[in-house]
Amino acid sequence: MLSMKRIIVAIDGPAASGKSTTAKLLAKKLGYIYLDTGAMYRACAYAAKKQGLAIEDRAAIINLMSTINISVGYSDNGNLLYLDGVNISDAIRTPEMSSSASAISAIPEVRHKMVDLQRKLGCDGGIVLDGRDIGTVVFPYAEAKFFMIADVQERAKRRFMELKEKGIDTPIEQVLSELEARDLADSSRAMAPLKPASDAFLIDTSLLSIEEQVEKLNEIVMMRLSLENNGKSDMQIRLAKHSGFCFGVRRAIQLAMEAKNDGKAVYSLGELIHNPQIVKELEANGIKVINEEQNIRNATVIIRSHGITRQSYERLQANNNEIIDATCPYVKRTHELIRSMAAEGCPVLILGDKTHPEVSGMLSYGNERTLVIAPGEPIPTLTGNRLCLISQTTQKLKSLQDLACELLANLLELKIFNTICLATSHRQNAAVELARDSDLMIVIGGYNSSNTRALASLCEEICLTYHIESAEELESVDFSAYIRIGITAGASTPEDMIINVFNRIKEKSGGSGTVKCIEEIPLFKEESC
Ligand code: DC
Repeated sequence: MLSMKRIIVAIDGPAASGKSTTAKLLAKKLGYIYLDTGAMYRACAYAAKKQGLAIEDRAAIINLMSTINISVGYSDNGNLLYLDGVNISDAIRTPEMSSSASAISAIPEVRHKMVDLQRKLGCDGGIVLDGRDIGTVVFPYAEAKFFMIADVQERAKRRFMELKEKGIDTPIEQVLSELEARDLADSSRAMAPLKPASDAFLIDTSLLSIEEQVEKLNEIVMMRLSLENNGKSDMQIRLAKHSGFCFGVRRAIQLAMEAKNDGKAVYSLGELIHNPQIVKELEANGIKVINEEQNIRNATVIIRSHGITRQSYERLQANNNEIIDATCPYVKRTHELIRSMAAEGCPVLILGDKTHPEVSGMLSYGNERTLVIAPGEPIPTLTGNRLCLISQTTQKLKSLQDLACELLANLLELKIFNTICLATSHRQNAAVELARDSDLMIVIGGYNSSNTRALASLCEEICLTYHIESAEELESVDFSAYIRIGITAGASTPEDMIINVFNRIKEKSGGSGTVKCIEEIPLFKEESC
């Protein structure tokens, strides 16, 4: 019987992101050895301190490196570090050693010596190493690479508890600022800075328990092992359970096609939907996009799904045009709400993208006390104690919640309308759910599509994400490094584009089983629909 290949598992990431605990447990599960490379730099810093050398004294440190002997032993609780034969495993675990290790690790001669030792210890495989440059420098050909991250507050909490257990009482604020300083130093140094390898799996541990972290990595290592041993991939390509055309977009296209079927020339004021390919197709069917309505008279004009300004609408009516109103009903609702709030004398704040046509339309139903704010932007000066907050229909719910919380602090009365459309919320939730279970997400939709951009930005927070407009953009992507690939699409992305992307990924990864219709693409968590 052939024995299983023993691979190299590289785990990098900032301090206290859960690397060492996870790496230790993963190594145990796999029957591999574990190497804590940070401990080796800590040992160098300890040696410098013991000899009274300042880390800034580079010549002295270089000389020190040629005289000391650092060796590593393995125990059930992790590595044992020896300096010239003396066990220094406990002495290197202090906050002082953390920052000195970071400083000394920026010296190239120190890195050369440590990287040589790490390569010697790991070159036969069957090893899990954690550090900052394992996947990028020490073992760039490692079969499984991970980059672990976690929210800095959460990391500070973990490190604070760790130190407390060792009897070291450091205020949490100090732990936090030391972590931030170390992250900055480790990621901005010239040699081997902390950064994810391009083929590393990004693992956010902020909300994961240790068991979940180990399980997640183990699952991927197992797939890698099966790939190495059988030479074939267990790649899964799954579509988010809500994606692609929403009903507002479907309705707009249907109305446009019906208008065309009447045999009349039809204008669309602005692009009917934010998808260049569909707009081109509609144009080929005689639906001409115009950007100004002033000179359009006695014609048929279709109003796009994002809506238009009140003034444009009135001008079209005054010029005797037949209007086919394809404004999405969710957008229409925002117009009505803004109009009535403004009539009541209530200032209105719109959360949205200032340059987006939907927001221009919304603004036009308000008055001089109607303002727009983009997500994350500072709150403008507000007059009075009451305000109405309303959202562009494709914003992230989290952005609306954050803004509402911030506003509440300064107002006596805040009326909030959650005008984020149901299709947007469903697509966002499904994308997040899928991204959490994927190594790579492909988000399909126009670059100018607000809801597609929101999907991409949500996925980017979770795993490596590509926002593409068409399957051709996947040419340079090497899919062999990914096992679980997720696909989602904005509300203005047609099914055939999703099918093309799915088939392109299949072809590029050497898999069989291309599909002809959307129903053939596996949905993520279909059973929970
Ligand atoms: O993982 P740790 O906190 O024990 O690492 C201590 C320091 O060592 C870290 O701030 C940067 C440095 N280090 C490094 O430069 N490269 C590695 N592979 C591991 C650690």
